[in-house]
Amino acid sequence: MNDLFIVNRREFIKKVSLIGGSAAALASMPWLKVLAESDTKSPSDKVRLALIGMGDRGKLLTQHIESFSSIINAELVAICDDYEPNLKAGIELTKGKAKTFTDYRKLLEEKNIDAIIIATPLHEHAHMTIESFNSGRHVFCEKAMARTMDDTKLMYDAHRSSGKILQVGHQRMFNPVYLDAVKKIHAGDIGQVTQIRAYWHRNNDWRRPVPSPELERKINWRHYEEYSAGLLTELASHQIQVANWIMKEPPVSVMGTGSINFWKDGREVYDNIAMIFSYPDGTQFIYDSVTSNKHYGCEEQIMGNKGSMELETNKIFSENPPQAPAILQLINDIEKDVFDTIPIGGASWVPETAVQYKGNFISENYKMDEVKLQLEAFVKYIRKGKAPEILSIEGYNSSIWTMLAEQAIKSGEKLTLPDKYKV
Ligand SMILES: NC(=O)c1ccc[n+]([C@@H]2O[C@H](COP(=O)([O-])OP(=O)(O)OC[C@H]3O[C@@H](n4cnc5c(N)ncnc54)[C@H](O)[C@@H]3O)[C@@H](O)[C@H]2O)c1
Repeated sequence: MNDLFIVNRREFIKKVSLIGGSAAALASMPWLKVLAESDTKSPSDKVRLALIGMGDRGKLLTQHIESFSSIINAELVAICDDYEPNLKAGIELTKGKAKTFTDYRKLLEEKNIDAIIIATPLHEHAHMTIESFNSGRHVFCEKAMARTMDDTKLMYDAHRSSGKILQVGHQRMFNPVYLDAVKKIHAGDIGQVTQIRAYWHRNNDWRRPVPSPELERKINWRHYEEYSAGLLTELASHQIQVANWIMKEPPVSVMGTGSINFWKDGREVYDNIAMIFSYPDGTQFIYDSVTSNKHYGCEEQIMGNKGSMELETNKIFSENPPQAPAILQLINDIEKDVFDTIPIGGASWVPETAVQYKGNFISENYKMDEVKLQLEAFVKYIRKGKAPEILSIEGYNSSIWTMLAEQAIKSGEKLTLPDKYKV
């Protein structure tokens, strides 16, 4: 497992052109540089991590840290959760080595902790992050940054004034396919990006079993407005980050709509949303998310005048694909009833049908674990005492525009970002 990770990491570094490759790629993705640096085994360089929130995400992050802590010389020395079953699961995962807490403030009083990883529901993120900075720690906080725009800004400001690292859990910034894709998009491989479409479709109620009724809001926090903006903060925030990254800047406006049209089970957050974000150059980012149909899955489709990309499925398509052999073309045309629809005198009015060719892979390097890579980078930033600011800015802009989209849906208005939230 560990060997595979190292081998893959070398491949990764080669593939994203960090070593002996293009300086331009590195300059535009400065957060990758640390991954090319060699590891240190010195005991004095050991990075001591603590994790708050041993739920689904916290457990995954813990498993990753445990699996590669000796390679990157880091240790999870403390864990915290105020829900006993999850704290117990954390103790098992860390084999009892980490000190345990039910109160995160007590954890922050501990000495010998360099950084805090926060994987609690998002209404807890801002105060936990700010108090961590105040206690002199760096922070890795899961997305979305916070429940409100004001809290998001307070977190960002506290990061700036404390000088401590704030990394937000947008792992696609460490996903080799996305890195290759964005590098190629920025190099002009699909021409000028003129539209982005993204969606995340599921067919389930997103409900967790609750052992006793008073735990409903704690366990199913994603369904309640006090703690979450539902699909917006949980899913869309990732894809808003990707669109901003591709466009190299945040949008200028957002409008949208949402409703509960299927899961009428007492939830307060929308079970379907549709939004349009506009970027300064006029490019539109069209987004939707549903929870009652999974046929189209999850995708980001980037459309340029010379080609298209589908990032989740690692595909690139040319606007002028190679001609299919004549016999295949004939079969396709018959299947599509082309001969029935072409009128005498020309076919200029016939609607364009989707191109049916399979395209190529954007990147061959899709086996890497993006979550692991982002944690490895976090450890290395801690050792340096700083991280590229763009990481915090990407997290901030994604979160703030997620919250603004929520306001746009609620008000039915097209909204721009008030100046006080611009960074
Ligand atoms: N980056 C990603 O792809 C990704 C994926 C899933 C979840 N997440 C994010 O991770 C975070 C957690 O999500 P999850 O699915 O693990 O939630 P979860 O409900 O499974 O886990 C949250 C945990 O935090 C604990 N907790 C809540 N308040 C606490 C407090 N005051 N003190 C100590 N512990 C507390 C809960 O008891 C629970 O164990 C969310 O912000 C979510 O958006 C990110």
